[in-house]
Amino acid sequence: MLVLLHRDYDDLSVAAARIIAAAVRRKPSLILGLASGGTTSGMYRELARMHRQEALDFSKTATFNLDEYIGLAPEHPRSFHYFMDDNFFSHVNIPRSKIHIPDGTVRTGYEEYCQSYEDAIRGAGGIDLQILGIGRDGHIGFNEPASSLGSRTRPKTLSRTTLEDNCRNFAPGEEMPTCAITMGIGTILEARRIILLASGSAKAKAVALAIEGPITASVSASALQLHPDVTFLVDEDAATELAQTEYYHRVMEMTAKLTPERLW
Ligand code: GLP
Repeated sequence: MLVLLHRDYDDLSVAAARIIAAAVRRKPSLILGLASGGTTSGMYRELARMHRQEALDFSKTATFNLDEYIGLAPEHPRSFHYFMDDNFFSHVNIPRSKIHIPDGTVRTGYEEYCQSYEDAIRGAGGIDLQILGIGRDGHIGFNEPASSLGSRTRPKTLSRTTLEDNCRNFAPGEEMPTCAITMGIGTILEARRIILLASGSAKAKAVALAIEGPITASVSASALQLHPDVTFLVDEDAATELAQTEYYHRVMEMTAKLTPERLW
């Protein structure tokens, strides 16, 4: 586990974009696992800039998104489909046929549908690099507290904390979905490499529990401690509850000297 501490949100966003860009340049047919949420916007903006100005080519890249609200059609402005299109896909050259996001309009046969999403990931060769954000309740994807650490893609009821946090994206009076389809924790842990982005003081507690707390179903992100290649990108405000920051700084310095390519 590598913890990279960044001064602020902009630094963190550029660092995350550089990790993705380096991975795409190394393997153009990269299978990329993507997350939505405000934290990822800066990273997508930087990737779009790199595509425009530095010829970063996504034409062979395929993507699988973590989750989508149940009940929202792709064109719904609060859907994760819309968010991804608006923030990323409409600005780069990933072929539409290679973009996968769970379908929030599925009404029946969830089990078959979720299995088909898992099959598509496996059929593509598995996720090479998975991007994650983190919820205030420690969720990754929409794996709310008490999600099984071995869970697979499935429908999930949203926690009270998530409903409170994400309702800011919905207009007053607008009905917010209470369930989502999400990749499971077991699905996420199968990615070959994982990076998690956390920014802002609201995430500080969840970040500390995920990195330094015990592995527990109460904090889904703590399951990442089991993964052999996970990097946490954390800005100063999100790092305030971490106990070992001095040590993480020293690890960053050593990593930069010994294996600079691991920083991106
Ligand atoms: C949503 C998504 C997560 C995301 C989290 C944090 O609930 N399902 O994948 O990591 O929120 O969002 P934000 O970055 O807006 O704080």
